[in-house]
Amino acid sequence: MTAVFSSSQKKINLKPIFESLVICGLAVFVFSAYSYAEGQEKKKAEYVGMSTCAMCHEDMVKEFNSTAHSRIVVPSVDEKTEGQACEACHGAGSLHVDAQTNEERHATIINPGKSPDACYQCHLKQKAEFSLQYHHPLPEGKMTCTNCHDPHSPDGVRPGATASLMDKNEVCAKCHKDQSGPFVFEHEALREGCTVCHNVHGSINDKMLKERDANLCLKCHYQTTFPLIGNTSHSSGRIRVGPCWSGGCHTAPHGSNYNEHERL
Ligand code: HEC
Ligand code: HEC
Ligand code: HEC
Ligand code: HEC
Ligand code: HEC
Ligand code: HEC
Ligand code: HEC
Repeated sequence: MTAVFSSSQKKINLKPIFESLVICGLAVFVFSAYSYAEGQEKKKAEYVGMSTCAMCHEDMVKEFNSTAHSRIVVPSVDEKTEGQACEACHGAGSLHVDAQTNEERHATIINPGKSPDACYQCHLKQKAEFSLQYHHPLPEGKMTCTNCHDPHSPDGVRPGATASLMDKNEVCAKCHKDQSGPFVFEHEALREGCTVCHNVHGSINDKMLKERDANLCLKCHYQTTFPLIGNTSHSSGRIRVGPCWSGGCHTAPHGSNYNEHERL
């Protein structure tokens, strides 16, 4: 079993390709197993290809065509048809296409919006991240991948991940208004996105922070005149007292509306 990327698309670095070779193989296995199990009871679903889906879901296919996922090709078991793109996540679609009623249609296609399992077949790394101690409550069933990602849109992280740096935070702002601003006294770090400080799938650090200590801040605020940071000497052992945002120091790492120095 092999998996191929169509080479006419933009350049892709080798690591994800290697990962996807492994994971797509796995996906074929899992989905063929799925359709096999189904087939024991009813007719077995076969892959029909994206052009068939387009007959009824035209807009979705149009939008999807420019996504990373649309380039994944998973050859099917009987090699007559290819399970790719849509069916990599939704499973083989022939029974869904032939269905007579809407009820039947819903019963014959996987909707991965309800559980991350369909995504985990390929995204093992993210599965591991969500099992770290501090994580968004996905494993607990309170959220799914689609709270932050739109699988059909060209911007995997919605909205407008590539278009604008500020937009990247919009998805977080839906649920975390207090941290997202705008602030009278903003911390410019937020312009680079919440993810400069947080690993949002999961982390070994409290609050899903990337670092648990001053290094979180020093990666941007390191000066050659260290321990001078900003215009203030931090030499009196301050940064050894605890992380920069504790002990009454920089307690508003996201920004403040009241006090410039609270941020400071
Ligand atoms: C002959 C028309 C037709 C074709 C072809 C078709 N679909 Fe559908 N699909 C429908 C209809 C009708 C619904 C139900 C819409 C509703 O109830 O609002 C639906 C619903 C869905 C749903 C939502 C199911 C749910 O339970 O939430 C998914 C996912 C889906 N289709 C994926 C696909 C994929 C993938 C393909 C290609 C393999 C495909 N469809 C091909 C007509 C079609
Ligand atoms: C990366 C995985 C993935 C791929 C590839 C994918 N989908 Fe989906 N699809 C999803 C998820 C997840 C949902 C549930 C969305 C939600 O809950 O917000 C979904 C939902 C749907 C629905 C239900 C309507 C809706 O918006 O909830 C339809 C119809 C559908 N997909 C069709 C397609 C078609 C057609 C393709 C190929 C052009 C496709 N999907 C490719 C993951 C995928
Ligand atoms: C068949 C395997 C497969 C499945 C199933 C799958 N993915 Fe992916 N996904 C990939 C591969 C391979 C890439 C990397 C593509 C690249 O780097 O160009 C990727 C990339 C991504 C990206 C980064 C997008 C970007 O534009 O860089 C996100 C986000 C993502 N997937 C989310 C999901 C979610 C959410 C689901 C489930 C709804 C899912 N994936 C299901 C294989 C899969
Ligand atoms: C709380 C929001 C959120 C949830 C929930 C979420 N993601 Fe992400 N994901 C992000 C953000 C933000 C990025 C960009 C990370 C960055 O730029 O450092 C990302 C990046 C990715 C990438 C690109 C590679 C990487 O790790 O940076 C993949 C693949 C991905 N997510 C898959 C998933 C899957 C699969 C799920 C569900 C199991 C999921 N994500 C749930 C926010 C989320
Ligand atoms: C759909 C809503 C939703 C979205 C979108 C969302 N989060 Fe969350 N977030 C939550 C929930 C729920 C928790 C868990 C809160 C708890 O356990 O008290 C959480 C927890 C967190 C925490 C840890 C808070 C703590 O007190 O430990 C951080 C940091 C965080 N999210 C950052 C982000 C970032 C950054 C993004 C954007 C990439 C994001 N979130 C997107 C709902 C969301
Ligand atoms: C400069 C680094 C940095 C950036 C950028 C950042 N955070 Fe944080 N965030 C922190 C630190 C540090 C804490 C821990 C604060 C504490 O424990 O008192 C935190 C805590 C949180 C918490 C837990 C509640 C709280 O306020 O203590 C949430 C939720 C959160 N951040 C969301 C976000 C969101 C959403 C964004 C993007 C809009 C973001 N963060 C950007 C550093 C950052
Ligand atoms: C992504 C880079 C980045 C990270 C990470 C970062 N900052 Fe900043 N920070 C900036 C930028 C850019 C400015 C505005 C320019 C400046 O004043 O140096 C700023 C300004 C500040 C200021 C105001 C300085 C002044 O003189 O007005 C303080 C205080 C500050 N940051 C504290 C922190 C703390 C505490 C952390 C860790 C929780 C942190 N920063 C992490 C980029 C970052």
